[in-house]
Amino acid sequence: MSDLSGKKIVLGISGGIAAYKTASLVRLLIKAGAEVQVIMTPASHQFVTSFTLSTLSKKPVYTDFFNSSQATSTWNNHVEMALWADLLLIAPATANTLSKMVSGAADNLLLAIYLSAKCPVYVAPAMDLDMYVHPSTLRNLKVLETYQNIVIPAEKGELASGLVGEGRMAEPENILAFLRQSLAETKPLKGKKILITAGPTYEAIDPVRFIGNHSSGKMGFDTALAAAQQGAAVILVSGPTQQHIEHPLVTTISVFSAQEMYEVCHSHFEDCDVFIGAAAVADYRPKTVATQKIKKSADDFVIELEKNPDILASLGAIKKQQFLIGFALETENEIENAQLKIRKKNLDLIVLNSLNDAGAGFGVPTNKVTFIDREFHIEPLELKSKEAVAMDIVNKIKEHYA
Ligand code: PMT
Repeated sequence: MSDLSGKKIVLGISGGIAAYKTASLVRLLIKAGAEVQVIMTPASHQFVTSFTLSTLSKKPVYTDFFNSSQATSTWNNHVEMALWADLLLIAPATANTLSKMVSGAADNLLLAIYLSAKCPVYVAPAMDLDMYVHPSTLRNLKVLETYQNIVIPAEKGELASGLVGEGRMAEPENILAFLRQSLAETKPLKGKKILITAGPTYEAIDPVRFIGNHSSGKMGFDTALAAAQQGAAVILVSGPTQQHIEHPLVTTISVFSAQEMYEVCHSHFEDCDVFIGAAAVADYRPKTVATQKIKKSADDFVIELEKNPDILASLGAIKKQQFLIGFALETENEIENAQLKIRKKNLDLIVLNSLNDAGAGFGVPTNKVTFIDREFHIEPLELKSKEAVAMDIVNKIKEHYA
């Protein structure tokens, strides 16, 4: 799971020595979850092979307007490719390509795609020191910014000519970091801090046994990813799960018991904007935890339980600016019980899932939920993937801040 997941990127490569770095760049973009369509200018073939790039991107690489080698001539539709892209990245962008972008020339496929693009355009210039600091290059970069193109600054260092200075294309890792940062800045939940609980809690009986439940953590993890993809900084407090998340805006804190989850949530609650309680927190825990493994002896064995703190209710009691979203997992009188929880826990929204609905609740990759807000407006949704439910929850947060 990653922040560029599903992003369609057209990577335009023009003819400079830095083109050799695009093999790593393609790998990094794909690893970050993007789909990459490589377009090469004719000159760039001197520096990197289309075979390498098509192997890495798992797509044919295009250079020409026409595929004259095929029996039935076809053409590569620059308008379709431009509209397909969520983002056009031209790296390396040579002095020649920059100049043509400024003037509106369209004498190769990449330039025609550039002129047709409606998506954000990023350029990573690369050239020798004297070319980079030439007034015409500096002016061209400024003009491109007036076209709303985003320049990824060249880096300083040793250049292919042997000169040392500015002009090296930004390293692929830095280009990726730049894109991530830039995309996050334009996202609707940028600046928001969201605290999310996920998974089960385990309540220890002795060093080897515990009381737990069937929560896989998926609903909470999918919600964390969806929120981060919309630009929020997420703190994900998770009980023991097999789920994994990799996103620069998500910090995962692993806990075991309800008490630990309670403490971590309270230590991060004050300055958070939204709290989402997707965890299936154990309501009770053993009153005492045996320090050694309990031996099998009597036929009956009784464990005395005591109540765990209710994390959500305790946060509801102290909330100020926070938008509080709870879940309700019910087996009977679903709507009434969920409405009671809204009042008892001082929630803004509850996401009700019922174990009576096939494909909803624990363990499964899908969920069927009903949103109920503070005014008791009821919004039942159809069965869908947990990723899609997560996006619906994030849309509710976006509506709240709209
Ligand atoms: O993890 P998955 O396999 O993907 O399954 C997802 C899920 C079914 C666990 C999830 O969608 C869900 O419903 N989570 C809440 C389950 C639950 O504990 O419901 P509840 O009705 O008992 O609790 C109501 C709310 O209070 C929940 O937001 C819960 O996190 C919170 N709570 C409950 C008890 C407690 N001691 N502290 C709490 O914060």
